[in-house]
This record gives sequence, C-alpha cells and structure tokens, in this order.
Amino acid sequence: MDKKLENILIIDYGSQYTQLIARRIRELEVFCSIYPYNKITNKLITELNPSAIILSGGPKSVLDKNSPKLTSNILNLQKPILGICYGMQLLTKTLSGKVKRSTKREYGYTLINIKKKSLIFKGIKKNKIKVWMSHGDNIKKIPNSFSISSISDNNIISSIESKKSKIYCLQFHPEVFHTDNGLKIIYNFLFNISKIKNKFKIKNFIDDKILELKNKIKDKNIICGISGGVDSTVTAYLLSKAVNKNLFCIFVDHGLLRKNESNQVEKIFREKFGRKFIKINASNIFLKKLKNISDPEQKRIIIGKTFIELFEKAAKKISNVHFLGQGTLYPDVIESIPFFGGPTAKIKSHHNVGGLPKKMKLKVVEPLRELFKDEVRNVGKKLNIDKHLLLRHPFPGPGLAIRIPGEINKTKIKILQEADFIFVNYLKEKKIYNNIWQAFVVLLPIKSVGVMGDKRTYNYCCSIRAVTSVDGMTADFYMFTKDQIQELTGRIINNVLGINRVLFDFTSKPPGTIEWE
Ligand code: XMP
Repeated sequence: MDKKLENILIIDYGSQYTQLIARRIRELEVFCSIYPYNKITNKLITELNPSAIILSGGPKSVLDKNSPKLTSNILNLQKPILGICYGMQLLTKTLSGKVKRSTKREYGYTLINIKKKSLIFKGIKKNKIKVWMSHGDNIKKIPNSFSISSISDNNIISSIESKKSKIYCLQFHPEVFHTDNGLKIIYNFLFNISKIKNKFKIKNFIDDKILELKNKIKDKNIICGISGGVDSTVTAYLLSKAVNKNLFCIFVDHGLLRKNESNQVEKIFREKFGRKFIKINASNIFLKKLKNISDPEQKRIIIGKTFIELFEKAAKKISNVHFLGQGTLYPDVIESIPFFGGPTAKIKSHHNVGGLPKKMKLKVVEPLRELFKDEVRNVGKKLNIDKHLLLRHPFPGPGLAIRIPGEINKTKIKILQEADFIFVNYLKEKKIYNNIWQAFVVLLPIKSVGVMGDKRTYNYCCSIRAVTSVDGMTADFYMFTKDQIQELTGRIINNVLGINRVLFDFTSKPPGTIEWE
C-alpha cells in the first residue's frame, strides 16, 4: 500500500457494526483498517501512523471490572478521535467523566436534537435527526473541557466533543444505514475534522499492486486457482497484469457448477491465458466419491479434500512454482473478537479456492486482502473484466452439492441446474438480480403428488432462496410480490421436468444460514 496514503485506524471493541464503519469510510474513498482492541499496542500504532482513530461500539459495559480499556498512548498522539457508543463511554470514563448504568436499553430509532453548531454536524440543515441507537449505559457527567452537541428526545446525551483536542463522541451509530445523515457525519469527521487529503483511488491501488507483485514474484512461477467467481477472477487478472508470463491458472470443474458455467469460465480464461489455463474435468470423480453420502459436513469434507488432491496433481506438472495466488478479501482477514463464549462454534466447514494446500509449501500471494467485495468489483471494472462476471452472485466452493440436501446424483444435478437457470434469468429479466445478494434454487429430497394436464405427477419439490445482505454474515429474505411468485412457480414447473412443486424460503440469517447445508 502507498506509504503516503493517509489511513484511519478503527479499534474494534466487538460491535456488530465495526465492519460497517470501515465500509462507510471506504465509500468515502479513504483507506482504513480494523484491529481488535486487544491487539493494539503503542508500537503498532506508531507503525500504522494513522491520521485519525475511531473507537467502535461494543457489547461490554465500561462499568464492568474487566471491560476493555484504552491503549495507553492514544490520547497522547494528539490525533483526531471519534468514539462511537462504547468508544464514547470509554473516552468519557478515561477522561474523568461519569458513565451510568441504565435500567432501560435504548435500541433502534431515536430522535436527537442538535444543540450546537458542531463540525461533526456540519451541513446538516435539520435541528432534529433520526439516529440508530444500541446502548445500555449512558453519560452522566461529561469530561472537563467537553461540551454537549446533541441530546436525544429521551433526554440522553447523544454526542459530546472537545474541539480543542479534536475528540468527538457519538452515542448513536452513524455507520448504520438507518441513521439520517450518517455518512455526512463520518464525512465531517474525515474531511472537516481530520483534514484527510489523499483519497484511496482504485487506479492507484492497481498500479501499486502491480509493482509490488512484479517485485515479489520476479521470474518465479505462480499458480492461481480459478472458480469463475469474482474474487479469483479479479486476482488472476491482476496477477496477469503484473507477471503474465509466470502465471498459471487451474480450474477444477467438479461438475457441481451452475448451468453452462463451466464452459463460460473456460471460454473466458482460455481466450486470456491460452495454454496456461488448465482445466480439470473431474465431475465423474466427485460424483463417485459423493455416492450415497447425505451428511452435509461429510459432503463438504469430501469435496474440499478431492479438490485439493486434484489441484496439487495439476500444480506438480508445472515447474519453478513458488507462489500461490488467492482471492482473499478484507472481511476474511479481519479478526473479530469472540466476546460471547470463546471461539465461535463451527457451523460449516467452508471450502473455497482460497483454502488451498498448506503442505504445498508455496508462498501465498493475496493481492486483494485489503479490499471489500465492491472494491474488488471496481478493480475488476478497471481491468475490463466482463460486467456479468463481476456482478454475479457469490457461489459456494462445494457448489450445487450443498443445494441438494440428501444424496446427490447426475439427474438431480441436472434438474437443479435447469430450475436455477430459470430462476436467475427471471431475476435478470425483471431487473431485480442486482438488488439481491444471492438467489438460488434448492432441490429437496422430497417427492409429492401433483396433477398436470389431467395426469398424476410424482416429482421433486424445490425451494426458492433469495436474500439481501451486506457481507453474507447476516441476511434477510427477499420479498417477492404475489405476481412474481406465481410467474416464477409457473415457469419452473412448466419447464423443468422432474419438479412439480415450488416452495419459498422465508428464513433470515440468523437463525437460518444462507445455504441449506
Ligand atoms: P452460509 O450458508 O454460511 O453462507 O450462511 C454465507 C455465504 O458463504 C457462502 N458459502 C461458501 N463460500 N465456500 C465458499 O467459498 C464454502 O464452502 C461456502 N459455504 C457457504 C454462501 O454461498 C454465502 O454467500
């Protein structure tokens, strides 16, 4: 990363919204990174040399004995600081103000009254704005030399500041979409208070990365696993800009891709990489290994293992390979704080092209590890990657295997591919595809009786899944209109031999997961 680039340090105290703070800052084209509070040391802060610091919210109370504290030299740095929720209370307590426990939690929308012309509210015309709150404790006494800049309709201090020391505190969450003018408040902190000048430009990012990759890889060879998804595609294109003649792309086709996908991926990559694109047709191998397997975890483990074996075999045939390119993104890198009950319970064994062989002893190269998904799409756009490829919904490594609960066979895969194809094309035709994070069909292991053209049918049911989400960590179901439901159901049943009943999945995540297995 460009050394001159100004950056914002976000210290994470465990809020569910911390990633959103980073997202908003990146939307404003400012570079930022998140570190958990317990990894922050004075040495790290010196190395990062941030232009400003943001303290996130968090689930703890500053009144608890073992609650997270402020890293000692943050206040001595004389950099602008924004404390959000827990961050506000932590600053208040550290600076000898008083925080009190509240019997009632303030959660959701609250109206606040802007009391004072403050830089943090610059450009906001209204005196009363709607904000998103999520807190128990609140401020009883503000620190000396601070002033109150807003108070909520519930009579709670909702923001304070010390203009002189450039410390601004908000009890509400400006990063949450539901806060009126939230982005403007963050803008004010970045540009009017912290005086950020150098924006993070995708074009500069690409130029810097290409140089960095060239210097790193030199005349050695690098292999890159391709899935046809956005992350691995953009990784490969970026690598090819830097070290085209040393790059080999390996695509393992497990036969569990969407309709026509394997051929599309092959066409695009063959054109670009010629003989250095290696495709392994392995659908029969995967089908054989998955025969009679219906347990979701077992399916995932078999697919992951077989994938790695085939990938390694292909890689061994290439000489002088020292590096492995991976499409890791920033959300995969951010360490979150497991406040509740220690390490998070394993829900699923994730498989993707990224999780490749440790024992191959290759150095991992992750050119996108500082970026969020939409930034990766922008890099892809700048690299002239086909728009349809870039805007495609995420697709899981184990593919359709985890969208066919129960045993898998060729017939089921074919039925699912057809139904999924009709569904996804319907969304594109109605121009709603890009409003949805992910949409797919699940083929259920249930047959039911129906009637078509006066004849009895006894066929499979499928379930339609469409969700909206920011990052796939939580998701809400997408609501179709009755007409859409009717039209979609008709199209699937009339065109897919083998399906006679369509169900709609209205489960959010949590408690559901996006995929069924
Ligand atoms: P879940 O089902 O865990 O999915 O709510 C969250 C997101 O992750 C995708 N997913 C995967 N992606 N390898 C991947 O690369 C996997 O093994 C895998 N499993 C789930 C899923 O499609 C959704 O976008």
